[in-house]
Amino acid sequence: MSLIIIVIIFVLFLLQWKWVNKRGYKTRLPPGSMGWPYIGETLKLYTQHPKTFFSIRSKRYGSIFKSHILGCPCVMISSPEAAKIVLVSKAHLFKPTYPPSKEKMIGPEALFFHQGDYHSMLKKLVQSSFSPSAIKGSVHAIENIVLNCLPKWENATTPIYTLQEMKKYAFEVAMISAFGDNPEQETQGIKCLYQKLEKGYNSMPLDFPGTPFHKAMKARKSLNERLRKLIEKRRRSGESGGGLLGILLKKQKLNEISDSQIADNIIGVIFAAHDTTASVLTWVLKYLHDNANVLEAVVREQDGIRRKLQHEDKRALTWDDTRHMLLTTRVIQETLRSASILSFTFREAVEDVEFQGYVIPKGWKVLPLFRTIHHSSDFFPQPEIFDPSRFEVPPKPNTYIPFGNGAHSCPGSELAKLEMLIFLHHLTTTYRWKVIGAEDAIQYGPFPVPKGGLPIQVIPRSNKNINKKI
Ligand code: HEM
Repeated sequence: MSLIIIVIIFVLFLLQWKWVNKRGYKTRLPPGSMGWPYIGETLKLYTQHPKTFFSIRSKRYGSIFKSHILGCPCVMISSPEAAKIVLVSKAHLFKPTYPPSKEKMIGPEALFFHQGDYHSMLKKLVQSSFSPSAIKGSVHAIENIVLNCLPKWENATTPIYTLQEMKKYAFEVAMISAFGDNPEQETQGIKCLYQKLEKGYNSMPLDFPGTPFHKAMKARKSLNERLRKLIEKRRRSGESGGGLLGILLKKQKLNEISDSQIADNIIGVIFAAHDTTASVLTWVLKYLHDNANVLEAVVREQDGIRRKLQHEDKRALTWDDTRHMLLTTRVIQETLRSASILSFTFREAVEDVEFQGYVIPKGWKVLPLFRTIHHSSDFFPQPEIFDPSRFEVPPKPNTYIPFGNGAHSCPGSELAKLEMLIFLHHLTTTYRWKVIGAEDAIQYGPFPVPKGGLPIQVIPRSNKNINKKI
C-alpha cells in the first residue's frame, strides 16, 4: 500500500515538473514554490493566517510569485501597479474564474462569470440600480429594517452573535435592493428558498441525494420557478416594479435579456450583497469596541446628527444626513482596509502573458492580493494600527481596493456603505455593546471574522447623553 502511495506521489511530482518546464517556461516563470503535487500550498493557505502566508512569500520572493492552490497553478501579485494591469489595463487577458459549483448555484448567466458585451450591458443595469441617485430613496426602508432589529437585541437574555444578526440585516437590505421597497408577497417564498440554497454555498460539490450540495441545487431549481412566476406577474401587471428586478424587466421589454438571465443576476446580487457587508459590519463593531477613543468620536458625530433630527420635528434620517457622517465613513474605510475580508480575487490568463519580465502561462490563475496591498507599510504606515484618520487624505492611486478595480469592481459599494452608516447611527446613539470573551482569534466562513461571530451583550444608553453636547 505504502509503495503505491510513493509511486503516485512520484508520478504527480513528475507531472508537475513537466508542466512547469514545458515550452521553456521554467526560467521565465515568477519565483516561488509549487508545494506538494496536486495539493500544492492549499493546506498552508487555509491553515495559516492570510497575513502570515502572503507576507512570508512576499518577503522571500518579492511582489510577484508563483504557487499552487486548490489544484491550480497560480501567480500571486501584491504590487498596486501589477494589480492594476490584471484588473484594469490588461483585463481582457485575465478572465474572471470561479469554481464550477459556484457557477451552478448562482447561475451561469450572472455577470460575475462574463466579460465583453454581455458583461458591460448587465453591469450598466446593475450599476444604475445601485448608484447614489437610485439608492437615495431607500434610506427610509433600510432605517426601518434597523429599527425593527435593534430592540430585539436589547431584550436578549443570551449573547447576540453579531455576524449572524448582521447577516439577517444585510439579507433584508439585499432583498429590497433586488425587489424594491414594497416587495410582493412572493418574495417571502424566494427568501426561504434562498436561505436553503445558501447552506450549500461552501459545501463539497457532491450532487447526490442527502448532500448539502444536492439540497442547495434543488432549492436553486425551485428558486428559478418562483422568480419566473414573479417576473410573469410583474409583466402581466404592466408595471416593471422596483429594485434591480424592475430595472432588468424594463430592459426585457426591449427583448435584450431573458428570464433566466434575470433570475441568475438577481440571485447573484443577493449572493454578493449580504455576507460581505455583514462581515465588514461585524468588524466595525469589534474595532469600535476595542478602540474607545474612536468610538467616543463616532458617538459625538452621531449624537450631533440625532440632535439635528430631533430639532427638525423628529424627522427620519435622509441621504444628506449620511453625507455628514464623515468620521463614521472613515471608520468604515479603515475597517475595509484593516479587515480586508476579500483577501484576494481570482483571474485566469486567457493566453500566455508577458508580465513584468516573467511569463504567466495560459490557464494559470492570477491572484491580486488586496490584503497584502492594504497592509503594506509603504502605503499605510503602521498598517496593524486601526486609525481612521489615515483616510483624512485620499490613499495613493490603486493602493486601496476593497471593492476591486476595473470592469468587475463592485457595483454595490455605495449601498454597502449606506447600510453600514444607517446601522451605526442607530446603534451608537441608542446602545453600548460589550464583547463577550477576550479572544482575538479569527474564523473563516467564508470571510475572515472574529471568532464565534463576535458574541456581544447590548445595553441601552441613557437618553440624557444623547441630548447633551459632549
Ligand atoms: C462591504 C461589502 C462589499 C465588499 C467588500 C464587496 C467587494 C467586492 C469586490 C472586491 C468585488 C470585485 C471582485 C473581483 O474583481 O473579482 C465585488 C464585485 C461585486 N459586488 Fe461587491 N462587495 C460588497 C458589497 C456588495 C453589495 C451590497 C452588492 C450589491 C448590492 C455587491 C454586488 C457585487 C457584484 C454584482 C459584483 C460583481 C461585479 C462584476 O463582476 O462586474 N457587492 N464586490
